[in-house]
Amino acid sequence: MRLILYTGKGGVGKSSIAAATAVRTAELGRRTLLVSSDLAHNLSDIFDTRVGGEPVTVAEYLTALEIDALKEIRENWSPAQDYFANLLAFLGVDDAIAEEVALLPGMDELFMLTRILQEVESDRHEVVIIDCSPTAGTLRHLTLTDTACTKLQKMTNMKRKVFKLVRPVLNRVKGLRHFMADDEVFDVFDHLLGNVGRLGEILKNPDVSTVRLVLNADRVAIAETRRAFTYFGLFGFPVDGIFVNKVLPRELADGYMNRWFKLQRQLLESIDQSFLDVNKFRVPLLGKEPIGLYPLAEMAHGIFGDHRPDDVLSAPKSVTMDQVDGKHRLVFSLPDVNKKDLDVGRKEAELILSAKNYTRVFSLPDTLIDREIAGAEFTDGTLTILFE
Ligand SMILES: Nc1ncnc2c1ncn2[C@@H]1O[C@H](COP(=O)(O)OP(=O)(O)OP(=O)(O)O)[C@@H](O)[C@H]1O
Ligand SMILES: [Mg+2]
Repeated sequence: MRLILYTGKGGVGKSSIAAATAVRTAELGRRTLLVSSDLAHNLSDIFDTRVGGEPVTVAEYLTALEIDALKEIRENWSPAQDYFANLLAFLGVDDAIAEEVALLPGMDELFMLTRILQEVESDRHEVVIIDCSPTAGTLRHLTLTDTACTKLQKMTNMKRKVFKLVRPVLNRVKGLRHFMADDEVFDVFDHLLGNVGRLGEILKNPDVSTVRLVLNADRVAIAETRRAFTYFGLFGFPVDGIFVNKVLPRELADGYMNRWFKLQRQLLESIDQSFLDVNKFRVPLLGKEPIGLYPLAEMAHGIFGDHRPDDVLSAPKSVTMDQVDGKHRLVFSLPDVNKKDLDVGRKEAELILSAKNYTRVFSLPDTLIDREIAGAEFTDGTLTILFE
């Protein structure tokens, strides 16, 4: 089983490249599911065929699914929704509003993750490719699967025990019984949190799951992608490919487009220097929109050539952040670098690691931007940087 997530800034070409990848893995004979977890689905437009809330076959070995968050919520969340709606109505909130509010914020995202897990754990697919929402949303999704879930699950279990104890008494007190949740409500929570936690484990296994970042060669997208790369790394979600889409072909180097072309060349160079040793792919701006199976297959051939798109495209080098003695510590794994060649610099929110001819730009996470570097050490391929 292989799980591949595509994310990036809005409009950069995530869906197109995710679809092209899926068409190619299906062509290679692997049972592939392409899932859209973006609320604004567009797989139907890309395949020019109807895709919906249940997987449909779009080609041999290829099925597609646009997760319908509301349907998932309706099917899985109703005991909890009834509980919250009753409680809110009791507290004086208008019925209709109470029902709406009972869909807690973030619920749709949690149920999307649950649905993804359901597909991943079914034995139906060998490759699952996810066309995610733009970067920020995807990061929020993925961090939901982090340890917070396990903690929440423990909390829910504790509450369940307390509620069980006090239920017989409180049920007799008028009004208070509205605050009581019965086992069914806890079951929904338990199930949900358990699922999301399990998906988190799958997502952090670099042999199974990798994240691919799509961007265009413009300053805003580069900055956003650098930050995303840092955060995915810190949260332990391996990034194995960077896809620079809509690269201007050389034919456009003359005339009106010349300045754009030159600017893009500079930006492409700066992309090459970012993203610590992750494989980068350039995807040309095509003559027309890649819509339909054949254009998508062609696009995939252009991107991957003879390589298998379901391979792990690069062994992601990890970076971790923690705290020791009140100081924040960043630890980079740089196994191929010699100590005498390594140079570490800093430019405001960016850390610049150079070794021989290579320069790597690393966007610092927000917590470190205002902190001075207190020291750095490099031993056995591990670079440790301490911040005040
Ligand atoms: N390499 C390319 N050459 C030409 N057109 C492209 C290329 N890649 C994508 N497009 C077109 O650009 C538009 C945006 O692409 P796409 O929908 O894949 O982006 P997205 O990142 O998924 O957007 P959203 O954030 O809205 O989901 C579409 O019209 C698509 O057909
Ligand atoms: Mg899209």
